[in-house]
Amino acid sequence: MKLKMMYSFLNSDINLIEKKLEETIQTKSSLLKEASMHTLQAGGKRIRPVFVLLGGKFGNYDIHVMKNVAVALELIHMASLVHDDVIDDADLRRGQPTVKSKWDNKIAMYTGDFVFAEALDLMANIRNPKAHKILADTMVELTVGEIQQIKDKYRFNQNLRDYLRRIRRKTALLIAASCQLGAIAADVDESTHKKLYRFGYFVGMSFQITDDILDFTGTEKELGKPAGSDLLQGNITAPALFAMENPKTKSEIEKVHEHMNPLEISGVITLIKESGAIEKSMALSDYYLDKALAVLEELPANKVKKSLRDISKFIGRRKF
Ligand code: IPE
Ligand code: IPE
Ligand code: MG
Ligand code: MG
Ligand code: MG
Repeated sequence: MKLKMMYSFLNSDINLIEKKLEETIQTKSSLLKEASMHTLQAGGKRIRPVFVLLGGKFGNYDIHVMKNVAVALELIHMASLVHDDVIDDADLRRGQPTVKSKWDNKIAMYTGDFVFAEALDLMANIRNPKAHKILADTMVELTVGEIQQIKDKYRFNQNLRDYLRRIRRKTALLIAASCQLGAIAADVDESTHKKLYRFGYFVGMSFQITDDILDFTGTEKELGKPAGSDLLQGNITAPALFAMENPKTKSEIEKVHEHMNPLEISGVITLIKESGAIEKSMALSDYYLDKALAVLEELPANKVKKSLRDISKFIGRRKF
């Protein structure tokens, strides 16, 4: 089943979100507008706004309230990608040149800041201080996660716990917040919105582990972004960590450096792929997925649980 089919009952609301996304990034500065429109129109899965809306379905769902949170969460994600592409020196995103490559790093920094600010402006429509606290804390954690990743570059003696702590911050908490803030905007009771947060956290962990697997197994064409660059850039993710359990493989991986030639790095990548590390990483992703599905069982019965279940499973098996 296609991802979009898993929440087809939200179609008209998603269309509204798309319109609102475009509206929100209209600005007097033609440069900021062009650069943010460019990223927005390149597409993307829009998984965070979908989680916001589905979280809202556990309470008093009013699309005119929900849309503020859904758009804000996609914009925060989008801004973090514009910045991430500077950090990762990536030229392609969503099948299009990145802002940092089409313009430059400075424009990318301000485009990201602008998009962040517009997201906060929309959130001002939500009159619950708790929502703002959760969002601000999440943004702090995301930044800490990205910085930690910079600090951990080429640090081959890190362990799985270091990696998990990093991806929790840089990815999982934003997905957790999407589910929870959607629920809070719909006045869902605390016990339920906390469960939705836990659900989103587990899904988010599985999502980033899958992203890190795809960096080894996917192609640029499938992903719409460069594949195979995490290791070369010193970003030690689950597949590399599992492969390093074998001392011989570990000593090969430890030789990786920034200026390694394409033939050498592809040799190391092949070694990792043949080590069983991809399968172990998939099992780790499944471990989180199962945890997410278990939390889902604890949530009150409603029409969207099946949708959340399908999307979670898609995330664990996704190819893009
Ligand atoms: C990419 O996120 C960054 C990660 C957290 C892995 P997505 O895979 O959700 O990117 P888009 O929005 O679909 O382009
Ligand atoms: C996720 O990490 C990025 C953020 C959470 C901002 P990646 O660096 O792996 O994301 P991609 O692969 O570039 O989409
Ligand atoms: Mg990155
Ligand atoms: Mg990146
Ligand atoms: Mg990645």
